[in-house]
Amino acid sequence: MAYETLIVEIEDHIALIKLNRPDAMNALNTQLLEELSKALRACESNDKVRCVVLTGSDKAFAAGADIKEMSDKSFVEAFTNDLFGRETQEMLRCRKPIIAAVAGYALGGGCELAMMCDFIIAADTAKFGQPEINLGVVAGIGGTQRLTRFAGKSKSMDMHLTGRFMTAEEAERSGLVSRVVPAKKLMEEAMGAAAKITEKSALTAMAVKEAVNRAYEVPLNEGLLFERRLFHALFATDDQKEGMAAFLEKREAQFRDK
Ligand code: HXC
Repeated sequence: MAYETLIVEIEDHIALIKLNRPDAMNALNTQLLEELSKALRACESNDKVRCVVLTGSDKAFAAGADIKEMSDKSFVEAFTNDLFGRETQEMLRCRKPIIAAVAGYALGGGCELAMMCDFIIAADTAKFGQPEINLGVVAGIGGTQRLTRFAGKSKSMDMHLTGRFMTAEEAERSGLVSRVVPAKKLMEEAMGAAAKITEKSALTAMAVKEAVNRAYEVPLNEGLLFERRLFHALFATDDQKEGMAAFLEKREAQFRDK
């Protein structure tokens, strides 16, 4: 499939999706968000894809929603079309693991897009921020909710109220990103993490994703029960038998996603 604002490559069961609007710091306009939805839907239905890596350029993962495109919108237009709500649903619907590989700016919608991925690997050049307050708006695709859950209220208030940027190191310390690596190593690290995931049972990986995401949706007791029941259910799979047999026989497991 041809895209104008993305570069998509699928190799070794990994779909690499690169945001590609170099003249606008990968600002998220309607076309890019629609193409991203399409690309994710294609990944979801492609059996060859077992993991997705979402990245930008050295300079910017994405510098937020496209300010030029949205500046003249009216409330009625934004509300009626559920601006950015519709366009970002696909990300949340994707049951395959998505890793964000972030270098440079991840601001506003860019930071929120990264947070919608399953985990973030950051280059030491990455800068995260929710500077929407400078434009007279608040975050629109999860910043106030996700950053608060991931990094806590104080950090989230600080970022949203002052509009300052945080370094990759601060983002890692805050729990926003899982690892920070030298910029040159970013793609190697992200593709390496994706490759590790492709070796697992896709079925089990899906279960992991559902269980971890539940932690943000339900009270602890409900989450613990959901996890335990999933754990029980996986004993019905061939991959559980294979995984445990392989351990006992001191060999590599050959998962079949069943
Ligand atoms: C449209 C953008 C853009 C954006 C950068 N550009 N960010 N265009 N929307 N969000 C464009 C600039 O206009 C410029 O185009 C080119 O990219 C290079 O940017 P510069 O500003 O010249 O580069 P630099 O001085 O290095 O500064 C980089 C920057 C700055 C710090 C990232 O561009 C910046 O502050 N951008 C806006 C960040 C922001 O406020 N994001 C939140 C958006 S609101 P020209 O044509 O002049 O060369 C948001 C709401 C979320 O995301 C809602 C849900 C999606």
